[in-house]
Amino acid sequence: MTEVTAGARVVPTIVELRALLAERRAGGASVAFVPTMGALHEGHFALVRRARELADVVVVSIFVNPLQFGPNEDLDRYPRTLDADVAALTELGVEFVFAPSVSEMYPDGEVGTRVTAGHVGSLYEGASRPGHFDGMLTVVTKLLHIVAPDAALFGQKDAQQVFLVRRMVRDLNLPVAIEVVPTVREPDGLALSSRNRYLDPAQRVAALTLSEALRAAHAASGDGLAEVLAEGAAAFGDHDDVTLDYLVVVDPATFLPVADDARGEAVVLVAASVGATRLIDNATITLG
Ligand code: PAF
Repeated sequence: MTEVTAGARVVPTIVELRALLAERRAGGASVAFVPTMGALHEGHFALVRRARELADVVVVSIFVNPLQFGPNEDLDRYPRTLDADVAALTELGVEFVFAPSVSEMYPDGEVGTRVTAGHVGSLYEGASRPGHFDGMLTVVTKLLHIVAPDAALFGQKDAQQVFLVRRMVRDLNLPVAIEVVPTVREPDGLALSSRNRYLDPAQRVAALTLSEALRAAHAASGDGLAEVLAEGAAAFGDHDDVTLDYLVVVDPATFLPVADDARGEAVVLVAASVGATRLIDNATITLG
């Protein structure tokens, strides 16, 4: 593995990044890629550490992608912490931070061509955030073409995103290995998210409802789907400031809701608003 001694190099343009990576590849280096929207936390750092194990060169992109935000969502207030992010990535031995402007990524403004996430992209997160997954897949496709990595890494916390990215890579024969890294949690169970920084202290406590619901669902998994759904939803009974959006159990192979009498491995997806902050989480269970 190549030792990186200088700081992470921030690269704002596609042309420059391609030239730098071509040089490294000509020397025989492999490339791993971690796409992010910045405001980095330990969840991202776990992706970066795994990326460093997988390849000689690690590229992290930091780009708050307007295409995946709806008109009433938090695009403008989404945290932007580039200097702190680059400092942390330097510590972790990242070689290139691709940090393009919106006009670098979308020079014509509105994009004419988009990747569509299909039916599964319209469910769960996609039902609450119409167009989100088309925007996400479109930017991931662009980033994969720009970086052309051997491997790209995603966090399991965004389970529906992971399913859709994997399916897109298969459907479109993209030459990249997708590696998924487990969700990183606070000691009390809260899944790390860039949006956790929106929570005030009371909301931070209330946000534990999501992981508590997943724990309750897990505990009920031997008793079948109806119990899982009932126990998971019951966790939301206590908090005025927490509004459940969905709690659903899906088949990991299709990402469609499982049948009432399903047995075996399944994924519980949960989304809720805590105050004005939308949070998601998930857990794998075995239905019995
Ligand atoms: O998971 C995210 O942060 C974003 O959806 C991604 C993959 C960086 C695309 O903008």
